[in-house]
Amino acid sequence: MANVSPLLTFIVILLSSIMINHLPVASSKQWCVSMQTAKDEQLEDNIGFACANGVDCRPILPSGACFKPNTTISHASYLMNSYYEQHGRTNNSCFFFFPNSAMLTSTDPSYNHCIYK
Ligand SMILES: *[C@@H]1O[C@H](CO)[C@@H](O)[C@H](O)[C@H]1NC(C)=O
Ligand SMILES: *[C@@H]1O[C@H](CO)[C@@H](O)[C@H](O)[C@H]1NC(C)=O
Repeated sequence: MANVSPLLTFIVILLSSIMINHLPVASSKQWCVSMQTAKDEQLEDNIGFACANGVDCRPILPSGACFKPNTTISHASYLMNSYYEQHGRTNNSCFFFFPNSAMLTSTDPSYNHCIYK
């Protein structure tokens, strides 16, 4: 048994560290959303940019889950976050949008069937 316990100790430490990594501490996830003070014209340009650069813009169409509320600020939030998500959630993939148009939040903006990844 004397030879087993270092191995057991190792396994216990290994399992503990795996569990620690899965604790809700991982809720430091962030989303990229419109700033409340953002200008509509800039948000519209951000929408156009995202749709032209690989983001699936169907959810903000009238038949989509994120159409309502039918506002520029809400549509831009959804699409900028999709862009952010598709680009590895790096700060730059949120902050490169027009200055003072996008910001990070740690509150999940998802609602009803409109899921922010
Ligand atoms: C959505 O909002 C735009 C801009 O205000 C408006 O032109 C359009 O008619 C609205 N669509 C619906 C289905 O409410
Ligand atoms: C990313 O932005 C957040 C919020 O503005 C900041 O707290 C964090 O330090 C930034 N991370 C990096 C790697 O710059």
